[in-house]
Amino acid sequence: MIRASQLSKHYHMGESVVRALDCVDLHIPHGQFVSIIGSSGSGKSTMMHIMGCLDRPTSGTVEIHGQTINSMSEKRMALLRNNEIGFVFQTFNLISRTSALDNVLVPLMYTRRSFSSKPAIEALDRVGLSKRAKHKPSEMSGGECQRVAIARAIVNKPKLLLADEPTGNLDTHTGTQIMNIVHELHEDGMTVVLVTHEMDIAVQAERMIEMKDGKIVADTAVDAARRAEILKLNQDAHQSLFRKKSLHPPSSKPLPPQMEAR
Ligand SMILES: Nc1ncnc2c1ncn2[C@@H]1O[C@H](COP(=O)(O)OP(=O)(O)OP(=O)(O)O)[C@@H](O)[C@H]1O
Ligand SMILES: [Mg+2]
Repeated sequence: MIRASQLSKHYHMGESVVRALDCVDLHIPHGQFVSIIGSSGSGKSTMMHIMGCLDRPTSGTVEIHGQTINSMSEKRMALLRNNEIGFVFQTFNLISRTSALDNVLVPLMYTRRSFSSKPAIEALDRVGLSKRAKHKPSEMSGGECQRVAIARAIVNKPKLLLADEPTGNLDTHTGTQIMNIVHELHEDGMTVVLVTHEMDIAVQAERMIEMKDGKIVADTAVDAARRAEILKLNQDAHQSLFRKKSLHPPSSKPLPPQMEAR
């Protein structure tokens, strides 16, 4: 659950003040899939960074899973981030020198939850990439890199997935593939907040939030029938994509019990 109250983030640029977030109130219950749309500079990434404990607000409060982050120490913020939140970026942000498996192992090293590579192998399998474990990012396609980034985001079994334009650098087919993985994670109980510029993607969420000048200007439930229709179309496209490229679709293995419990 995320609860933001009168959340503001201001940047002082010489004489002027940029109100990246301007008194935002927002409540996202557990398990909801929310998309955030809005023009460039409207405050979407700023919002994601604060929700993801990567940044602090200038004023207002934000509560993530019952913990108020405003006055939290850096250490506790990092713990919350590593244990409960998975982040996926537009540019993948993988370490280029190391293999897919090593990239997915990084969050496990921070949390020290496991000293074996098994959870990382399972996460790669979850996104259909166990056969690419030894490949470096330069030896994989953009879609594969994003799937590795998703595996890295979910390896610690977070409750919250934050994705900032995860399909922004991908073609439509590959974007659909990524969205289908996001849908699977949501169906398994994860709360998902996804930033996008594309309306076709935004309407795949249960709820759509529009931002403008650091404020929420629209907050609407997506029509369930329309959503179901798009999801069906995507699943069909996904099947044909996999047939075309002779790849294996991501496994639909259930997530471990920690995630199913909610
Ligand atoms: N570190 C910073 N210093 C100063 N201004 C910043 C900083 N980060 C963001 N801003 C400003 O805050 C506003 C919101 O930025 P943000 O990155 O949240 O927008 P966005 O909606 O994610 O845009 P885009 O769609 O282009 O990614 C912008 O006007 C931006 O210039
Ligand atoms: Mg942004």
